[in-house]
Amino acid sequence: MEAPFFSLMLLLLLVSSSPSAALLSAKGVNTEVQALIVIKNLLKDPHGLLKSWDQNSGDPCSWAMITCSPDFLVTGLEAPSQHLSGLLAPTIGNLTNLETVLLQNNNITGPIPTEIGRLANLKTVYLSRNKFYGEIPNSVGLRYLRLNNNILSGPFPSTSANLDLSYNNLSGPIQGSLATRYNVVGNPLICDANREQGCYGTAPMPMFH
Ligand SMILES: *[C@@H]1O[C@H](CO)[C@@H](O)[C@H](O)[C@H]1NC(C)=O
Ligand SMILES: *[C@@H]1O[C@H](CO)[C@@H](O)[C@H](O)[C@H]1NC(C)=O
Ligand SMILES: *[C@@H]1O[C@H](CO)[C@@H](O)[C@H](O)[C@H]1NC(C)=O
Repeated sequence: MEAPFFSLMLLLLLVSSSPSAALLSAKGVNTEVQALIVIKNLLKDPHGLLKSWDQNSGDPCSWAMITCSPDFLVTGLEAPSQHLSGLLAPTIGNLTNLETVLLQNNNITGPIPTEIGRLANLKTVYLSRNKFYGEIPNSVGLRYLRLNNNILSGPFPSTSANLDLSYNNLSGPIQGSLATRYNVVGNPLICDANREQGCYGTAPMPMFH
């Protein structure tokens, strides 16, 4: 009697201690772990901040700089002011439950991955004070987007978010923007160096929602 009972308890224990089992792919690998390991590998992390990001540990909710929902889905990547450099991997778009990305005050370069546009639950993205260049990808559901002090160029993005795009190299027009609030001070193609009027404010065409 004892041995089968013990095996059953062990099985229950194993099942109940694997909360991310729902995300196991056919090959038995957690897709969020895979995506985060690629992100780790493209970032340069001189202070070993991401050393707990271990492919074999299986549970990303126990890793530094990661926040999870109560049901163990990765909802936040939060590593501001950590001397990170290198690139932000496009596999960020595979973290389908992501709501918050805080990577401001680092030295990350390259383009902002267009894949973030896939993330339906993404609300807050702070990438201020890095070295991102290229265009701002579309991402419709955002509420807060701070990209100030980078080297971004291309058109003013169409999003209803609160936008801080100051100190980049964006071009206009702002007219018709959906932004709830915006700041584009310090973008020479839109705002002259000594003229701040029209460079920030609420949307020229107010949104009622
Ligand atoms: C990320 O998603 C893409 C597209 O669905 C897929 O092709 C790729 O294998 C995924 N990458 C990882 C590391 O999971
Ligand atoms: C970024 O890199 C520059 C040059 O390597 C360095 O001086 C600066 O302190 C770094 N900034 C951050 C926030 O890590
Ligand atoms: C700013 O962007 C324009 C075109 O969009 C480009 O010609 C110019 O070189 C850029 N300036 C800087 C400082 O990157």
